[in-house]
Amino acid sequence: PLTAKVNNRDCLEIGGCDVTTLVRQFGSPLYILDEETLRTACRQYRDNFKRYYPGNSQIVYASKAWNCLAICAIVASEGLAVDVVSGGELYTAISAGVNPEWLYFHGNNKSRGELEFAVESGCTIVVDNWLELKTLASLANTSSAVKIMLRLTPGIECHTHEYIRTGHLDSKFGFDPNQVDEVLSFVSQAASLCCVGIHAHIGSQIFELQPHRDLAGVMVQWLDKAASLGLPVTRLNIGGGLGICYTEADDPPSIEAWVKTVSESIVASCQAQQVPLPTLMCEPGRSLVGPACVTAYTLGSRKEVPDIRTYLSVDGGMSDNPRPITYQSVYRAVVANRMSAPLTETLTIAGLHCESGDVLIKDIQLPQTEPGDILVVMSTGAYNYSMASNYNRVPKPAGVLVKDGEANTILQRETYQDLVRQDRLPERLKLNSR
Ligand code: LLP
Repeated sequence: PLTAKVNNRDCLEIGGCDVTTLVRQFGSPLYILDEETLRTACRQYRDNFKRYYPGNSQIVYASKAWNCLAICAIVASEGLAVDVVSGGELYTAISAGVNPEWLYFHGNNKSRGELEFAVESGCTIVVDNWLELKTLASLANTSSAVKIMLRLTPGIECHTHEYIRTGHLDSKFGFDPNQVDEVLSFVSQAASLCCVGIHAHIGSQIFELQPHRDLAGVMVQWLDKAASLGLPVTRLNIGGGLGICYTEADDPPSIEAWVKTVSESIVASCQAQQVPLPTLMCEPGRSLVGPACVTAYTLGSRKEVPDIRTYLSVDGGMSDNPRPITYQSVYRAVVANRMSAPLTETLTIAGLHCESGDVLIKDIQLPQTEPGDILVVMSTGAYNYSMASNYNRVPKPAGVLVKDGEANTILQRETYQDLVRQDRLPERLKLNSR
């Protein structure tokens, strides 16, 4: 899906920009986001809902995958709403100019301050638990009715890494399904709350379609219950979770297949249970932004462990991509300045951090390389920058947006000054200058 090609200098080009030139210009490591790929994915969701779902629909970008001003602005310009999960994400989306009517605020432990910020901003709050529901009911008394949706735990299992499953019964997220009646009746009596919909999310990087079919059935039952209590619940958000291809071995359904399945399942459940069609919402993150970005690194030192493996180190690692060390995620990479060279070596790509586990890719086939060559790790748009850290006080990389041969900075590279900006040195600790 990336608008990539190999140019006549045997270098990788993305969005019409030579990756090696980008690195020379913007430094290394570098997140390179292909605008066309991101926009195409937004349109695939949008157009396929129009095609397969007879009612209204709304796509919400789960910005936890990558929240920054430019991405919020791009998805909003494609007509998507934005899901935020903290005051910081909310602030970023608002700063990007996203209309609060198109913002949904999630989270299983929003602070009172965050709730006040959300109420003031006018976004819709996806309520996760009793404490939040009661806090909101009391906050909202003083102003006009607050728009909420209710997050429920559907009790649906799916096959993905246990850290990123959320729909099973012992998940920390959402109201227990046994409490649906109680929650709905509380909401129906809270004049200050206007419940517009119901939400559930079952997990991430999911390759099967069946869990979302099952989810549709469960959620339509809840919709029916809400209607019977006279609640104006017209929106149903089935969450995100569609997996993407990180290596050749991955074979996820297409966006079209996913949207078709979800749409048909909701329509079928509504017909079977005689419930009017809701506004169908979904909340993809990874499948929108994941394939649209690559990370370029510069190759450095090399260590050969005879008969075992050869390490090749890059100038980044778990601080800019914590997914391999966190979830044992697998990535694919190419050498951007030797695109057609034969793959003659099996290598382990190590990060620069002081941890043996800081390995980005195990046993990858690469051509003969030299220090200074550019390694490009593919599909790094989701949960890389958003989970990046300053471990070992490594500054966060820059990010550029590429399109039609133009590159614009969307994330300025952090400097050493940025790293100490929030540090404070109490007077009594100041060292005597020598
Ligand atoms: N909606 C809710 C309520 C979510 O919790 C999530 C993801 C999404 C939507 C978007 O799911 P997606 O379409 O991106 O699968 N850090 C992990 C992934 C955590 C996912 C958290 N929730 C990773 O790097 O794999």
